[in-house]
Amino acid sequence: MTPPFKDTLLASQQRLQRVLDGFLDDYLASLGGEQTRLLEAISYSLLAPGKRVRPMLVYAAAEAVGEHQSSDADWAAVAVECIHAYSLIHDDLPAMDDDDLRRNRPTCHIAFDEATAILAGDALQAMAFEALSRSQLPMTAVAILARAARNMVDGQAIDQAATNGILSLDALQAMHGDKTGALIVASLKLGGLASHASAEQLEHLEEFGRAIGLAFQIQDDILDITATTEELGKPQNSDSDANKATYPRFLGLDGAQHALSQQHQRALHALSNFDKASVLLQLADYIVERRQ
Ligand code: IPE
Ligand code: IPE
Ligand code: MG
Ligand code: MG
Ligand code: MG
Repeated sequence: MTPPFKDTLLASQQRLQRVLDGFLDDYLASLGGEQTRLLEAISYSLLAPGKRVRPMLVYAAAEAVGEHQSSDADWAAVAVECIHAYSLIHDDLPAMDDDDLRRNRPTCHIAFDEATAILAGDALQAMAFEALSRSQLPMTAVAILARAARNMVDGQAIDQAATNGILSLDALQAMHGDKTGALIVASLKLGGLASHASAEQLEHLEEFGRAIGLAFQIQDDILDITATTEELGKPQNSDSDANKATYPRFLGLDGAQHALSQQHQRALHALSNFDKASVLLQLADYIVERRQ
C-alpha cells in the first residue's frame, strides 16, 4: 500500500539529505579534510531548507514507472538539486535580481561575498554532473540534464533582457518554460530513466513536466506579489518592483490564476496512463497550492 503523501515525501527528503551529506563529505575528503570558504558557501546554499521539489519529482517519476527508491534515482535527485542551488545563487546576485534573502537566510553573496557566490554556483553546476556520473544511468541522462541547464540559462537571459520590455504571451510562456520548466522536465525524465521508462512513458512525463513547470513559475510570480516575505523566505515583490516580465504583470492576478489552473488540468491529464502516479498527482496539487 502507498503510504500517505506526507510520509512518502518525508522519507524521500530524509533519503536525499543523507545522499547530499555524503556527497559533501566526499568533497571535503578530497580537499584533505580542510574546509575552504568555497565549500562552506556551497554547503550553505545546498543544505539550506528549500522545498526540494525537483528531487521529489525525480523520486515520484521513478515510482510512477517502477521502483521509488534506487541509487540511480538518488544521484539524479542530487544532480538536479545541485543545478537548482547554483541557479538560485546566481539569480540572486546584484547583476541579476539583486536579492538579499533566500530560503529564510541571507543570500550566498551576502553571507559570503560576490566572488565566492559566483564560484559556488560554478562548482555546483560541475558537481551536478559529477553526481550523475556516480549513477548507472545511460548517457542520454547526461544529455537531458545538460540541455535543461542550458535552456535554463537561455530563459534567464531572456528574463534579464525582458525587464521593462513587452513580451507576447507566447514569449512569456516560452521564457518560463526555459528558465523553470526545463529543469522540472529533466527531473521527471531522469526519474523515469532510473526506472527504465519506455519512450512513451518518457513522453507522458515530459508533457506532465511542461505543464507543471509552467505552473510552478506562474505560481512563483503570483506569490511574488501575494505572499509575505516570511511565508516565502525570499523578498516579496522582488520581481514586480524590478518590472520583470511575469504572468500577473501581463495578465493581471485573475488572468494568472486562470492560466495556472489550465496548466494544472493539463498536468493531471498527462498522468492518465500511469497506474502509480499518486505522488506525482499530489506534487502537482502542491505546486499550484503552495504558499512558499
Ligand atoms: C525558486 O525555486 C526558483 C524558481 C525556479 C521559481 P523553488 O521555489 O523551488 O525554491 P526552493 O528550492 O524551495 O528554495
Ligand atoms: C528564477 O526565477 C528562476 C531560476 C532561478 C532559474 P525567479 O527570479 O522568479 O526566482 P525567485 O523568485 O528569485 O526564486
Ligand atoms: Mg530571476
Ligand atoms: Mg529571483
Ligand atoms: Mg520569483
